[in-house]
Amino acid sequence: MKKVPVIMDCDPGNDDALALIMVHAAENIDLRAVTTVAGNLNRDITAKNGLEIAEYFNMKVPVSKGCYPIMKKFEALDISIMGAAGMGNAVLPQAKGSYSPLNSVELLHQEIRKAPGEIQILATAPLTNIALLLSVYPEVRDMIKGITMMGGAVEGGNHTPRTEFNIYTDAEAAKIVFQSGIPIRMIGIDVTYRTPVYEEELDELLACRNKTAKFIGDLMFYPGTKERPVPQEGLFIWDALAAAAVINPDIMTWRHHFVDVETRGEITYGETVVDVKNYLKKKPNTHVAYECNKQEFFQMIRYTIEKLG
Ligand code: BDR
Ligand code: CA
Repeated sequence: MKKVPVIMDCDPGNDDALALIMVHAAENIDLRAVTTVAGNLNRDITAKNGLEIAEYFNMKVPVSKGCYPIMKKFEALDISIMGAAGMGNAVLPQAKGSYSPLNSVELLHQEIRKAPGEIQILATAPLTNIALLLSVYPEVRDMIKGITMMGGAVEGGNHTPRTEFNIYTDAEAAKIVFQSGIPIRMIGIDVTYRTPVYEEELDELLACRNKTAKFIGDLMFYPGTKERPVPQEGLFIWDALAAAAVINPDIMTWRHHFVDVETRGEITYGETVVDVKNYLKKKPNTHVAYECNKQEFFQMIRYTIEKLG
């Protein structure tokens, strides 16, 4: 089987962590590097989490430290919703290894140049590293096979009324990426809201309680407690859906639209404007996910748990 070479650009983050172990476990993916960036937490903490996850699961890939937003002051998220270190209840051993000597932009550049035309980037964080890469090394644009991102929305937001967190955190960067001409698959919050994971489903998925199931449970604050129950409306595991779409794009139904990012709006800064009805008469630049096959998604999580043990 020819494996798909993937670089994961992320801000772990509990859902990033699940996404990362899913792509690491997938038979058809060849994970080449983990490039971290500021997002859910500041860049030191996302890098630390990335390195610890990579070591705990013996990934043997370089992990790099990344950037803060380009044009905008970094705004830390109220991380209490994701646990003190953004990893739910999961506490991993301190990493023994070190970061890549390259920062995330340089590591992306190096790995893309090693396999021109082949690399898929799985982006589950603000798009700062990727926008900087495209600005510093514009020639790599044509060497990237595609970007599958968790970010944006067709409608509404999860951070402001109109914006999704990753895009809002660095809207200028997102604009550069959407305008790059690189084939993009967008897993917005719409499809994640349509794919809630309920407590009884977690009971079944995580029943074996091996190391990996326990880690996933800890990431998701499972089993719930009186103080922090599993929400009745279910959990939305944003980034894990983007990982699923890289592993098997057929898990989603897609529509091809033109998408751009609002960077001047007073109350809409960071909105992904998805031209569903093609008012702007622009060539579509993004495949937008609409529905996810939840059973297939669960099967990928089961596979990850069995494979990693
Ligand atoms: C996205 O924002 C982050 O908090 C999550 O890790 C995910 O990438 C969801 O909007
Ligand atoms: Ca993320």
